[in-house]
Amino acid sequence: MRLLAVGLLLALPSVAMAAAEPNTQVPPGSRYYAATPVPDRIVASPSVDPSHGFAVAWRTDGSVQSPLLEIARADDSPAIEGIVQVRAKTQVLQTENGLSHHHRADIDGLQPDTLYVYRVQGNGSWSAWNQLRTLAAADQPLTLLYFGDTQNKNVSHVSRVVRAAQKAAPDARISLFAGDLVSGGDNMDDSEWGEWFAATNWLAQETLVAPAIGNHEYFEEFEDTPQERRVLGRHWPVTFALPGNGASAAAGTSYWFDAQGVRVAVVDGTSALDLGTAKAQAQWLDKVLSGNRQPWTIVLLHQPFYSPREGRENAALRKVLLPVVRRHKVDLILQGHDHTYGRRGEGQAATPQYVVTVAGPKQYRLSDEARTTMDPVGEDTQLFQVLRIDPQRLRYEARTVTGRLYDAFELKRDGGGSKQRVEQQEGRIAPRDCARAQTAKGRTDRCWE
Ligand SMILES: [Fe+2]
Repeated sequence: MRLLAVGLLLALPSVAMAAAEPNTQVPPGSRYYAATPVPDRIVASPSVDPSHGFAVAWRTDGSVQSPLLEIARADDSPAIEGIVQVRAKTQVLQTENGLSHHHRADIDGLQPDTLYVYRVQGNGSWSAWNQLRTLAAADQPLTLLYFGDTQNKNVSHVSRVVRAAQKAAPDARISLFAGDLVSGGDNMDDSEWGEWFAATNWLAQETLVAPAIGNHEYFEEFEDTPQERRVLGRHWPVTFALPGNGASAAAGTSYWFDAQGVRVAVVDGTSALDLGTAKAQAQWLDKVLSGNRQPWTIVLLHQPFYSPREGRENAALRKVLLPVVRRHKVDLILQGHDHTYGRRGEGQAATPQYVVTVAGPKQYRLSDEARTTMDPVGEDTQLFQVLRIDPQRLRYEARTVTGRLYDAFELKRDGGGSKQRVEQQEGRIAPRDCARAQTAKGRTDRCWE
C-alpha cells in the first residue's frame, strides 16, 4: 500500500511555476569560467567589407601572448591545405575569475562568397576548425538574425532562444544583438560573459556577430554621489573584434559595415543619452548614411526611439538622432532595452519600421501608449527575429522561442526604388500579455525577473 502511494506521487505531474533563480548557474565562489590555456570565448565579427574579411576575438589564460589564427579555404578533406597565419594582438583583463588574455586577429584579402575554415591558438592547443562563409555581392540573398537583450540567465534561459534561431535560420550569416548581453555590476561580470558565450556557442563562431552596446555594458562610477557617471565596462573592448570606424566620440562602441546589399550602422545609445555624444554620433551617422549605395539600411541601437515601456522616454535620441534616420529613409531600426515586443512606423509610411524585442527572460510590462501606437505588441515572450533580404525584398519575421510566428511583414522595392510594406497576418499567433500579477520575487512592475 505504501509503495503504491509513493508510485502515485511520482507519477503526478508537477504544476509549480519555476521559482526565482540566480542570474547565472555558477555557484558562489566558483571560478568555473576562469581562462585556461585552451582558447574560448571565440567570436567572429564583420569587417567593414565582410565579403573580403572578418575579425575574430578569443580568450586564453596569461600564458598566451600574440597567438596565431589560421585560415584556409574549406574542403571536404581533413587535410587542410593552403593555411594562412594571422598574428593576433593581445590585451590583458583582470576579473573575479582571475587574469585573462584577450586576442584579436583581423583577416582580409579573402574571396567573396567562399567558405573558409579558421582556428585560433592557445598554449599547446588550438580551437576547433570553424567554418565561415564570406559575404557575397550585393545582389545575392542574405539571412540575418536579430536578438533583443539577452542580459540575464544566459545559460538557463537564453541558450534555447539561440538554438531555436539557428534551427529556424541555419543559413544566417550575421547575428545582430541589440545590447545588454549581460547584466553585470554584480562582481560576477566575467561569469556572466562566460555564460553568454556558453549560450551563443557555435553561433558566435560561425556567424558574424554584430552587437550594439547596452547600458549594462557600462557601469556607474561614484554611484549615488554628485560625481556619478557612466564608464565603459572593461569587457566590451576586449570581447569583440569590431570595425574601428565609429564616431570618434563613441569610438569602439559605434561602427558600420556593408553586408550584401545592406548598410548596417550601429549607434551607442547609452553614450548618446548619458555621455553627451548624441550630436557627434548624429553627425557621424549622417555621413555614414550619406555615402550609402546599398539598397537597404538598418540602424541598430540599444535604447528605442519610441519606448514601449511605461515612463521611459529617450528624448535626446528622438531630438538629435531621429531626424538623421528619417532624412536617410532608414528601413529598419532594431532596438532592445525595454524587455517587451513592439513595432511601429510613422503614419502610413512604409519605412522606417521601429522594432523593440527581447530574447532573454527578463520581461517588463507594456505602457498603455504602446498598446495604442504599436502593432503588434507583446509581453512575457522570448523572441528571435529572422530577416531575409535581397535587392527587391526585405522579409522580417519575429518568432517566439518555441518557433511560432509572432510578427511578419515584407518591404518591397519597385523599379523606381520606392518602397511598399506588406503586412503578413497569416500564421501569426495572437498577441501575448503577461498573465501574472507579480514576479516570483514579488515585483508588480515586471512580468518575469
Ligand atoms: Fe538596457
